[in-house]
Amino acid sequence: MEELIRRATEAREAAYAPYSGYRVGAAVRVGGRVYTGCNVENASYGLTECAERVAIFKAVSEGARVVEALAVVVDGPDVARPCGACRQVIWEFGPRARIVMGNVDGRHEESTAEELLPHSFGFDGFRPASGGD
Ligand code: THU
Repeated sequence: MEELIRRATEAREAAYAPYSGYRVGAAVRVGGRVYTGCNVENASYGLTECAERVAIFKAVSEGARVVEALAVVVDGPDVARPCGACRQVIWEFGPRARIVMGNVDGRHEESTAEELLPHSFGFDGFRPASGGD
């Protein structure tokens, strides 16, 4: 996970966060590949995209489906805490992913999609991101 944390920390450098000043970086591993993301804000605040979703959607848009690990990094005293929308997207594409939430001072905590989003929404009988299509 060290490599993924490093990639998330680097990705944070590109964060576009002039409104909140809260810069977030994320990295996901799928197979042998790593996809990174940062938060991208907008003057119309609701259009903001979180770092985790940028990284996951980059991966999915290139044909990946099953996220095996995700790292998300912020600065500040606490580690990164994915928002509710990101938790739902993590559940869709990485239900069994290792998740590390960190900060730039080197603190990190590990969690799972299940811990982040218990009692999650999903269609009956459908296992998210189990491979295939
Ligand atoms: N943000 C993320 O990038 N990921 C999260 O999970 C939480 C929030 C971003 C969105 C916005 O640019 C800034 O943090 C403040 O909410």
